[in-house]
Amino acid sequence: MKYKTAGSMRIPDIGLGTWGIGGDHELDDSHEKEEIDLIKNALVAGVEHIDTAEYYGQGQAEKIVGKAIQYSERGKLFLTTKVWKDNLSYEGVISAMERSLQRLGTEYVDLYLVHWPNPDIPLKETMNAMKQLVDMGKAKHIGVSNFSLQQLKEAQQYYTIAAHQIEFNIQHQEPLREMIPFCQKQDIMTIAYKPLGRGRLLDDPRLSALAQKYGVTNAQIALSWLVSQENVVTIPLSRSLVHVKENLKSAELELHKEDILSLTKSS
Ligand SMILES: NC(=O)c1ccc[n+]([C@@H]2O[C@H](COP(=O)([O-])OP(=O)(O)OC[C@H]3O[C@@H](n4cnc5c(N)ncnc54)[C@H](OP(=O)(O)O)[C@@H]3O)[C@@H](O)[C@H]2O)c1
Repeated sequence: MKYKTAGSMRIPDIGLGTWGIGGDHELDDSHEKEEIDLIKNALVAGVEHIDTAEYYGQGQAEKIVGKAIQYSERGKLFLTTKVWKDNLSYEGVISAMERSLQRLGTEYVDLYLVHWPNPDIPLKETMNAMKQLVDMGKAKHIGVSNFSLQQLKEAQQYYTIAAHQIEFNIQHQEPLREMIPFCQKQDIMTIAYKPLGRGRLLDDPRLSALAQKYGVTNAQIALSWLVSQENVVTIPLSRSLVHVKENLKSAELELHKEDILSLTKSS
């Protein structure tokens, strides 16, 4: 596995997303056993970063992750979870973290993110609680997700922002205009979500051409392009162990500079 660092945070290039595990907007525990097995097997295959959120399946995703990680060495895992936008008051953040830690069966997360901004709650109040969680040892690093540049700059005034999780993929390159260069300058890690556009970008002919050239899959080209960018890591979701292994391998793939640029330019 390859890693990137931002400040004191070291994070694997390729992790595993969990949106849809344990349900999406609603809880669905009907596949619990298969989903625990999937994550256990993904860890054995070499996944070292799991991205989840209290919102996913209304806590069920965290519960499944918690059950799966009991079988692995906590120190080797980078665990990210997120506080939902309804819980961004000071007390709301502190108690949301308590519930998340309980479901995850761990004493700390490596990265705690504000999932979405909430203009109705002062960001300063939210960030004070996030800082408190670091002081309590419950979060190693703090970050945000889906913030505008202005919101990100405001958050930075209150505490060190280690990461910004945003949608970024070969068909959604808008963040390269302002957000990613800003994060690179500020040493904030960009965590690219929907790196495969939920699977919809995989038939992009630009990927097929490069996949043929390198003898890899379209998904591997799409992921490799992402992590070839400075300060960018990603968290593809897959329910297939074959795909999970394939995605992990994309971190080792070194695309030539002109091929990276061809995907960047022709978006
Ligand atoms: N912060 C936020 O607001 C936010 C928003 C969205 C997502 N996220 C996070 O980002 C993670 C990733 O995003 P996402 O789940 O929305 O979408 P995604 O990772 O872009 O796409 C997932 C889809 O890609 C397919 N796939 C994965 N690897 C593949 C491969 N090697 N070959 C072919 N198909 C492959 C999967 O199907 P198979 O299961 O068949 O492999 C699945 O249908 C989420 O799970 C979540 O943790 C965060």
